[in-house]
Amino acid sequence: MESQNILNAQAELWNQTFSFVKSLTLKCAIELGIPNAIHSHGQPMTLSELHAALSLPTCNETNLLRLVRMLTHSGFLVQNTGKNSEEVYDLTPISRLVINNSDSTSSLSSFVLGDMFNKIPRADAVFLKWILHDWCDEDCIKILQRCKEAIPSKEAGGKVIIVDMVVGSDVGSINHEPQLLFDMMMMTLTKGKEREENEWSNLFKKAGFNSYKIAASLGVRSIIEVYP
Ligand SMILES: C[S@@+](CC[C@H](N)C(=O)[O-])C[C@H]1O[C@@H](n2cnc3c(N)ncnc32)[C@H](O)[C@@H]1O
Repeated sequence: MESQNILNAQAELWNQTFSFVKSLTLKCAIELGIPNAIHSHGQPMTLSELHAALSLPTCNETNLLRLVRMLTHSGFLVQNTGKNSEEVYDLTPISRLVINNSDSTSSLSSFVLGDMFNKIPRADAVFLKWILHDWCDEDCIKILQRCKEAIPSKEAGGKVIIVDMVVGSDVGSINHEPQLLFDMMMMTLTKGKEREENEWSNLFKKAGFNSYKIAASLGVRSIIEVYP
C-alpha cells in the first residue's frame, strides 16, 4: 500500500474507533445546557458569554473552548464573526432540535390506558409511530391483528398508519446511516429490528391485511399505510 493510503486508512480507523466521542460531546453539550443558553441569549455568543451563562468554574474556560471546537466540527454549533469582529457561536439546525421548550403544553389528545397486545380501542385509524421496530415479527403480527380488529373496512376508511424505517428506501440526499445504527440499537436493546420493505410486506400479509402503500418518506423514516 502506498504510504498516503496507509495514513488515510489509519486516520479512518481512528475516526471509526473514536466516533463514540461525538455522541459523548453531544450528551455533554445538552447536559451543560449549551443549546438553551444560546437560544435564551437571543443571538450568537462569545465563548466568555457562554462560559458565564453556564456558570462554570473559571478554570474551565479552556475546556469549554475545546468542547465548543469539537461541537463546531460536528455541525452542532457554527462559528461566526460578531459585530465587533469577535468570534461568536450560534445554533445550527441540529442543535435547534434539542432546545428544551418545557413550557410548551399541548392538550390536543386524550389518553386511554391499555395493552396493545390485548385490545386496541375502536377507531377509524390506528397510528403506530416508532412502535413496531421495538418488537419481533411474532409480536408485531399480534399488535397488527389487534389494530385490524379495531378499525373498519378499507371502504369505510379503516387503516393503520405506521411511522418507522424502511431499510433501503430512497432517502434522497439524506444520510441513510441512521437506519443501520438504529438496527444495531434494536438488535442489542430490544427484540425488534429495522425492516426492509419485503419484511414489512410479510408482516402485513401474516396479520391478515390486504394491501399497503409507502405513502411518504420522512427523512430516514417512512409513513406506511396498511389497509384491511
Ligand atoms: C418507542 S416508544 C413510542 C414512541 C412514540 N410513539 C414517539 O413517537 O415518540 C414505545 C411506546 O410503546 C408503549 N408500549 C409498550 N408496550 C405497550 C403495550 N403492551 N401496550 C401499549 N403501549 C405499549 C410504551 O409505553 C411507549 O410509549
